[in-house]
This record gives sequence, structure tokens and C-alpha cells, in this order.
Amino acid sequence: MYHSRISGLGHYVPDNIVTNDDLSKLMDTNDAWIQERTGIQERRHVVKGQDTTTTMGVKAAQVAIDRAGISKDDIDFIVFATLSPDYYFPGPGVLVQRDLGLSRTIGALDVRNQCSGFIYALSVADQFIKTGMYKNILVIGSEVHSTGLDMTTRGRSVSVIFGDGAGAAVLTREEDTTKGILSTHLHSEGQHAEELSLIAPGMGKRWVTDIIADADPNDESYYPYMNGQFVFKNAVQRFSEVIVEGLKANDLQVSDIDMLIPHQANLRISQFIQQKFQLSDNQVYNNIMKYGNTTAASVPIALTEAWEQGKIKEGDTVVLAAFGSGFTWGSAIIKW
Ligand code: UT7
Repeated sequence: MYHSRISGLGHYVPDNIVTNDDLSKLMDTNDAWIQERTGIQERRHVVKGQDTTTTMGVKAAQVAIDRAGISKDDIDFIVFATLSPDYYFPGPGVLVQRDLGLSRTIGALDVRNQCSGFIYALSVADQFIKTGMYKNILVIGSEVHSTGLDMTTRGRSVSVIFGDGAGAAVLTREEDTTKGILSTHLHSEGQHAEELSLIAPGMGKRWVTDIIADADPNDESYYPYMNGQFVFKNAVQRFSEVIVEGLKANDLQVSDIDMLIPHQANLRISQFIQQKFQLSDNQVYNNIMKYGNTTAASVPIALTEAWEQGKIKEGDTVVLAAFGSGFTWGSAIIKW
């Protein structure tokens, strides 16, 4: 069995900065409420015709590939995590295969695990590399939320939180099994599926034919719904559990963590975890202040920034953790 290591990281966010004050012109909200409850100061929104989930994923991927020091045609497989694909189908994995101009007809897989999507995608890629099936896998997390949010006061408890962006990693075969991804831990609890969800359009409760026939401007099923406090309570519990689970599986202690990259759901959640585990500011990376919650993109964007800023060095123990819609949650323990 091999290990896999992250050999290249990249991220891309749209230029268009949307501040809390900008949102207060669209809905009844204010900078003080948003900062106090979430820590968010601003986020990025795509500009129509410029960026999509796929194009942002491709831009992040190109940086990651260059930094990995490989050619794009060395990539053996693509795993793309998103809840906001360009098309209902096909998923964005194949669009990346096309838009990167890959000469080989490599496989492309789409992962739909929302906020924990990147960790699920990383775990899938890790298994393919461990078994020796593939050598280099491109893992992308990318989201466009802004085009699907209710930007009126009705939607304010959700709309102020989410932002757009993309992050990518190249996973490469590592012969030294003391390095790279040591383990990943994935969970779900489907009984809470609707607590953080977007119901329509779907082939279950809100058929496309019904939506067209109803043409109801008050239909909220197209917008994301979140039972915020319930999600918050579950998040702090599951984040803690899955971090401890990952550490235990590798005989590590909380004090062994050099860098924790939590999914950027809410700065208060990150701060709760930091306090609970008594981690210093240098041991936890947060950037939700600048980008909001970018769902599957949040972990790879934060990981890329932490690495770019020299906060992750060779030999460090890096912990990734995420929780979100599904509910799904997961962690990855990495020896850098
Ligand atoms: O990434 C996936 C995982 N996601 C999470 O983990 C998110 C978890 N949840 C949260 O982060 C928080 O629950 C939120 C940030 C979403 C909301 O914060 P909260 O402290 O739970 O607020 P709330 O929903 O209980 O609302 C409190 C008040 C309400 O007013 P009343 O009923 O007390 O008069 C809301 O109507 O704040 C009001 N409110 C707002 N006010 C100004 C809700 N959204 C806004 C807003 N601006 N944007």
C-alpha cells in the first residue's frame, strides 16, 4: 500500500467583493449583526458571464497542478466536490477534463457532500492512490452560491453567510508511509437531511414540471433552507468528535496538532473548537471573515492560504475537519 500526499494547492475567488454594508442595501441586515453572529466581513460573488463553479475550479486546479510540478496530462483521475454544479447534469468533473484540455480520457467523479465535500473527495482520491490504481489525482472543491440565494429580507439568515470560490489539490503517490494522508474519517446522519437543504428542482418532492406549472414567485423551495441553531449545535459536537476520532486513530493528542483547518461555517464554531481543544491562534486557520462560507471550497481555500503564508511546514500534523448538510461530516489527518 502507498500513501498519498498533497503535492500542489491552489485557490481562486472572484474579484467582486460584497461587503456586509452592500448586503444591507438589499435586505434588512447590518454589519454588526453579521460580524457578531458569524465573523464574516465580506464575501466574493461571481459576476454573470465571468465565472462559474467549473471555471473557478479549473483556475484553482491550474495553480495546484503547476505547484505540484506535474503536467496536466499526468493527472490520472478527477474528483470534483460541489453543491452548485454548472449543469444539473453532467457534473463538473467532466467539464474540468474538457476545459483543462486533457489529452487522456481519464475518469471524472462528482461528489455531492456539501460542506464536507472536499474531505469526502480527498478520502476517495486517497483510497485510489493507496491501492496503487492512480498516481496523481486532481481534487477540486468549488461553489457558486450567490446566483441561487434569496437576496431579500426573507432569506437573510442564509444569504449573508455564503460566498463563492474554489480550491484545488493534487494528490500524489507517496512511497514513505509515515507521510501524507494518515487517515480520513467520514460520517453521515441522513435523518437531518432537510435541516440544511435545497429541495427544488428535484425528482422527489418538487418536479420540474410542477415548478413550471405553478410558476409561483413565493415558492421558497428553490432557495437553500437552514435551521441555523440546530445545525450550529450539531456542528460543534460533530467537529469535536471527528477531530478526536482522527487523532485517536493515529495515536496523536490534541497537542500534536500543528494546524487545524476547520470548514469555514461560522467563526463562532471555529472559536468554540479552538477553545475546547485549547489551541493557540497559530494552530487554527480561519478566513471566513474574507470569504464567508464557501461550502466544499472552504477547506481547500483555507488550506491553500495557510500553506502560502508559511503556516504549514514539512513534518507538521495538519487536521482538516468539516460538517454540513446531510448531515455529513469528516476529518483528514495529514503528516505534511
Ligand atoms: O456550513 C454548513 C454548516 N452551517 C453552520 O454550521 C451554520 C450554523 N448556524 C449558524 O451559524 C447560525 O445559526 C446563524 C449565523 C445562521 C444564525 O445565527 P443565530 O444566532 O442562530 O440567529 P437566529 O437565526 O436565531 O436569529 C436571531 C435573530 C432573529 O430575529 P428575532 O426572531 O430574534 O427577532 C432573526 O430574524 O436574528 C435575525 N436575523 C438577522 N438579523 C439581521 C437572522 N438573520 C439576520 C440577518 N441580519 N442577516
